[in-house]
Amino acid sequence: MATVLTEPNAAKSLIRQTKILIDNKWVDSVSGKTFETINPATGEPLAKVAEADAPDVDLAVKAARKAFHSKAPWRRMSAAERGKLLYRLADLIEKNIDELATLESLDNGKPQHVARTADLPLVIACYRYYAGWADKVQGKTIPVNGDYFCYTRHEPVGVVGQIIPWNFPLLMQAWKLGPALACGNTVVLKVAEQTPLSALRVGELILEAGFPEGVVNILPGYGPTAGGAIARHMDIDKVAFTGSTEVGHLIMKAAAETNLKRVTLELGGKSPNIVFADADMDEAVEGSHFALFFNQGQCCCAGSRVFVEEKVYDDFVARSTERAKRRKVGDPLDRKTEQGPQVDNDQFTKVLSYVESGKQEGARLMCGGERVGERGYFIAPTVFSDVKDEMKIAQEEIFGPVMSILKFKDMDELVERANKTIYGLAAAVWTRDIGKAHNIANNVRAGTVWVNCYDVFDAAAPFGGFKQSGIGRELGEYGLQQYSEIKTVTVKL
Ligand code: NAI
Ligand code: MG
Repeated sequence: MATVLTEPNAAKSLIRQTKILIDNKWVDSVSGKTFETINPATGEPLAKVAEADAPDVDLAVKAARKAFHSKAPWRRMSAAERGKLLYRLADLIEKNIDELATLESLDNGKPQHVARTADLPLVIACYRYYAGWADKVQGKTIPVNGDYFCYTRHEPVGVVGQIIPWNFPLLMQAWKLGPALACGNTVVLKVAEQTPLSALRVGELILEAGFPEGVVNILPGYGPTAGGAIARHMDIDKVAFTGSTEVGHLIMKAAAETNLKRVTLELGGKSPNIVFADADMDEAVEGSHFALFFNQGQCCCAGSRVFVEEKVYDDFVARSTERAKRRKVGDPLDRKTEQGPQVDNDQFTKVLSYVESGKQEGARLMCGGERVGERGYFIAPTVFSDVKDEMKIAQEEIFGPVMSILKFKDMDELVERANKTIYGLAAAVWTRDIGKAHNIANNVRAGTVWVNCYDVFDAAAPFGGFKQSGIGRELGEYGLQQYSEIKTVTVKL
């Protein structure tokens, strides 16, 4: 294994599955087309992967619909038995944890050791968490007027379409499959075109775990084609999407124009990360660095607007700049690497164009701002100070290693400015004053607030957005609601 983890060509031998999973069979696309997925650390192709499009989505939906039939094995299975399958899948992922972390790193560019110690443990915990829920999804008895017995059943929604992004391929797959399967739905999952490989390997483990035919179908393919076909499909009951706010609008429109399928969305963010002068400055600097630069800055909840109290602003900027300069950028398979490449050329170009815009609008470039090396999509950790609210880099999602530091004077001004965005995904506050912490937690319009910490995730704690950051919540007990229909049954006594 040691050679596999450090040598890209040896690591490539881990790529075993590049086809589409429909009805428990690995198949080529109907069109016969394939597309290349690349290694962002080198820009070189890793593998040719089957390219799903509308006809493949049709076949997958047929399989998922058949598997949802009331007489099909999946529907006859007890809830506890469904839970057992999810536990088994978690165990298989754990058994193959090193291999999956390496695949994730190769296809996405994130450091292998980070995938191994951050992404994969969360993936496994998520499947186990929802495995435990499978036989605890239950309705109520309702005391209605008259001589009736009234109760609710929490039933699966049906065939669920799921579309996931490339920043956390395995984790997004787990957030989607875990609750959907725990509730008894069947799934047509489209993985991101940039990072199909790890999800396909999990597809093999799904078969090994023993899930019945057609319950989980996995399609690699592009957004407007395969993704669009899911959003428009008349026989998909619900679509769950994670990705850009722009595409979130398209998904909702497609659902509205077709069969009113249920829609849940987890979209972009521009999350305020607030540092008060009374905070533990070492922790605030390191925590804010992590909040922005983790995963190459490719996090929907990245702390991308750092508001720092006037009194400590210069000190915070100096220390954050020094920390960013020390960030180790390089080979994702090297254990010492903190930051790998951006996922592809599009993202790389987009991030660098935001750096240009920051410079043009008068923000002060403290460090970084340019490419690292001659191949691959590496960007130097970048810090801007003197950032103003209306600048593009303070308004739009950059999704890269670019930190924007803004200055504030007092609480009233601060809350208003923190909320002056179309997004509302996350926020954080660093302070030793419990009153300030709760004031921010109560008044910032965001789905998650972290106090003196950042990016603390747990399968049990819900996550999702206010405003244009999304609709619905994932994870936790709340995440189950999005995958159940409530049926009211009234019986005359
Ligand atoms: P995207 O929203 O285009 O892609 C996410 C997923 O949606 C992928 O599976 C893609 O194939 C699919 N998709 C794309 N167009 C679609 C369509 N018309 N119908 C159905 N599915 C479609 O995001 P992209 O282009 O990869 O990145 C653009 C920006 O989006 C990033 O720079 C970042 O700002 C944001 N983003 C946010 C993410 C999040 O976690 N909230 C994840 C990825 C990107
Ligand atoms: Mg790739």
